[in-house]
Amino acid sequence: MSAVTARAHPNIALIKYWGKKDEELILPVAGSLSLTLDAFATTTSVELREGLAEDRLELDGLVRDGEQLARVSAFLDHVRSLAGASGRAVVRSVNEAPTAAGLASSASGFAALAMAASAAYGLDLDARGLSRLARRGSGSAARSLVDGVAVWHAGTDDESSYAEAVPAPPMGMVIATVDGGPKAVSSREAMRRTVQTSPYFSAWVSSTEDYLERMVTACRAGDFTTIGQLTEAHALRMHALIASTEPPIRYLRPRSVEVFDAVAGLREDGVEAWATADAGPNVAVLVQPQGAAETAARLAAIVGVDQVRVVGAGPGAHLLPEGCEVP
Ligand code: ADP
Ligand code: DP6
Ligand code: CO
Repeated sequence: MSAVTARAHPNIALIKYWGKKDEELILPVAGSLSLTLDAFATTTSVELREGLAEDRLELDGLVRDGEQLARVSAFLDHVRSLAGASGRAVVRSVNEAPTAAGLASSASGFAALAMAASAAYGLDLDARGLSRLARRGSGSAARSLVDGVAVWHAGTDDESSYAEAVPAPPMGMVIATVDGGPKAVSSREAMRRTVQTSPYFSAWVSSTEDYLERMVTACRAGDFTTIGQLTEAHALRMHALIASTEPPIRYLRPRSVEVFDAVAGLREDGVEAWATADAGPNVAVLVQPQGAAETAARLAAIVGVDQVRVVGAGPGAHLLPEGCEVP
């Protein structure tokens, strides 16, 4: 059988997902909201192959085993159970963003895999079904099925936990890469540690619910200033929470903090720019289209011009025509 190929973009959370209430189903403790980007795509091909004893994963040209293969194979087991199929697959994937660096490779990776694998195994899923499926690979992937701004409803069960679009004003991001290397502690592991050991966890859950409600209202109203304020404050709360685990985890580096300070300086100079960072040292700065160039120039002075990228709102995961396979 020929391969099915899909493409998905990462999303950066403005209201963060951090903590699961069900690890098997990947149900989050609270809802979250993100911007899907138009850069740093993942392209993934899935090919069902007769006679294969195990699934095979090639990521960025290297055959993967251990945790990375196990995660993909467990995801494919779920797809196979939905499809009533048993054949193994070869998965070939390329990330244009650095993998496991806090630039949402698990989101674009599992959104692309959900799209390609569901088609390869003959599942006929609607938008909500695809978002729910992607969620089973990586929670944040549920939002990469959606164009632009997406809210992921926490839900109470597998059926009710999915992402959908929210109307929002024009906005983009300036990504400052501080370090593209893999993080020492994966999002999955750090989240588990937070739920188990942080004394601040219940306050985080209630604060996130409150912020999400305000964020959805601000998006619908086109109120960019409030969107920015909530984004930066919520990111800092998440990093404070992560620092409160036992043993503690810190993802931000001195240079990441320098970027946050530079963004505050931009605001003093009248540019509406607001910083956030996922689970890694790299910083995403939320801007209006007219503020992108000046923000990029200011950040280039800190991290170097090659490490700065201006990105816009991008499309949800989609299938590519036959013949566009990952080689
Ligand atoms: P990130 O901040 O990049 O999302 P995570 O710790 O959440 O980092 O997840 C990184 C893991 O996601 C990788 O180690 C790998 O297991 C998985 N992953 C990333 N990209 C892909 C991909 N294209 N296909 C399959 N799995 C992927
Ligand atoms: C900080 O979705 O990578 O980026 O569900 O365990 O795969 P798993 O975790 P993941 O966590 C993302 C955390 C975050 C915030 C966010 O994207 O909302
Ligand atoms: Co991730």
